[in-house]
Amino acid sequence: MTEEMKEPQLGPLGCLGRGHTPLVLKLLFFIFFSGLLLAILIQVFKVPSDQGQSKQEEIYQEMIQLKAGVDRLCRPCPWDWTSFLGNCYFFSKSTRNWTDSVIACKETGAQLVVIKSHEEQNFLQLISKNKGHTWMGMSDLNTEATWHWVDGSPLLPAFMKYWNPQEPNNLGEEDCAEFDGNGWNDDNCDVNNFWICKKPAASCPNQ
Ligand code: BGC
Ligand code: CA
Repeated sequence: MTEEMKEPQLGPLGCLGRGHTPLVLKLLFFIFFSGLLLAILIQVFKVPSDQGQSKQEEIYQEMIQLKAGVDRLCRPCPWDWTSFLGNCYFFSKSTRNWTDSVIACKETGAQLVVIKSHEEQNFLQLISKNKGHTWMGMSDLNTEATWHWVDGSPLLPAFMKYWNPQEPNNLGEEDCAEFDGNGWNDDNCDVNNFWICKKPAASCPNQ
């Protein structure tokens, strides 16, 4: 084997022969530039992420404002309905027979009024007295003289005092209950009366 064909021999510190950069230096340069590149990359990705965070914060604050606005717009009852003790009431301006009044209320997601408390009874009686004969959601259409509300519940004895004197008298054929003056009357279901619908009030945040 000739001298020229021999493997190049490394000197001390990995030095190649003359004219070659020492390996250690190359390594140092590599580490230095890698570090520099890493630092630049960190900066490049750090700045937009900072901006992104403040943008996110801005959007979050806007959403809070927007929610406060929507909360202020929230009403427990629809337009033209009256709120009373957690329920919404619709007092009709026109008149219908009892069955059509039941349907009218159903169409608005409500029920022809079912009376559940004495406060509610007094409130509705007063409004109806000023208005005229008004249907409520009670009839004895299924069984004569057995009164039921449209939600299926029976007329409780505690509420029987609201019948007007001598009512219900089933005069002719009277199977539907109405507000009449200071109390209730059974009337012919085909008569056209005002009606009252009832549905639960929506719960509005912070109201
Ligand atoms: C009504 C009856 C009621 C009576 C009371 C009539 O006009 O149709 O339902 O019982 O008045 O006097
Ligand atoms: Ca009657």
